Amino acid sequence: MDIKNVVIIGAGGHAKVIVDSLSTMPQYKIIALLDSQSQEKELLGVPILGGDEQLPDLIKQGVKHALIAIGDNKRRKTMALKLTTMGFQFINAVSQHAIVSKHAILGQGICIMPGAVINAGTQIGDHTIINTNSSIDHDCNIAAFSHIAPGATLAGHVTLEEGCFVGTGSSIIPNISLGQWTNAAAGSVIVTNAKAAQQIKGTPAKAY
Ligand SMILES: CC(C)(COP(=O)(O)OP(=O)(O)OC[C@H]1O[C@@H](n2cnc3c(N)ncnc32)[C@H](O)[C@@H]1OP(=O)(O)O)[C@@H](O)C(=O)NCCC(=O)NCCS
Repeated sequence: MDIKNVVIIGAGGHAKVIVDSLSTMPQYKIIALLDSQSQEKELLGVPILGGDEQLPDLIKQGVKHALIAIGDNKRRKTMALKLTTMGFQFINAVSQHAIVSKHAILGQGICIMPGAVINAGTQIGDHTIINTNSSIDHDCNIAAFSHIAPGATLAGHVTLEEGCFVGTGSSIIPNISLGQWTNAAAGSVIVTNAKAAQQIKGTPAKAY
């Protein structure tokens, strides 16, 4: 088997779940985590080497693959653009406890956490997070840099444009579209479309 050496950007709680998932994917070996804000030396046995300034050295050591473990959508996009420019390729971390239809289409740099379900006909864009126990039903289109937080439920034919955040425990009824960089608060029940960059909350969810 061709084993790929991987660097993870970020070493917080989100990274912990990713490292755990990748430990069951033998095609990947995590060489290091990078997080300039971390006071720790390792996470689940993987060394934390410092910040992004380590990237050129890692490239010299033959590390060509990366995954960005940053929950904030805009920060994740900024980092993805930087690493793409440096020539990194992105892997996906898919928990062995997630259920992903063989008829779903996944981009790159994606994290799919334990208990998540992705049904047939759904497309998941690059650098998206499908968090613990969330469910994305059939024929959804989730654009790049989105984050579906733990326990959120998207019914069929939901469309999220780039960078949407759907807070924990939220629900979205069928055929809804959220404009780019929409933020839905925890527990939102989304029954109408949202324009770009709206903050919405409540039941039914409204802009605030
Ligand atoms: C909506 C949210 C961003 C607001 O955070 P905040 O700006 O710090 O707001 P505050 O906690 O100061 O609350 C401000 C008001 O909004 C209300 N509020 C906060 N979160 C709310 C929510 N999810 N739904 C409805 N009302 C909410 C508060 O009760 C408060 O109301 P009040 O002014 O009448 O007392 C935050 O509460 C939230 O839901 N974040 C999502 C968290 C999440 O899902 N994380 C996933 C991580 S993986």
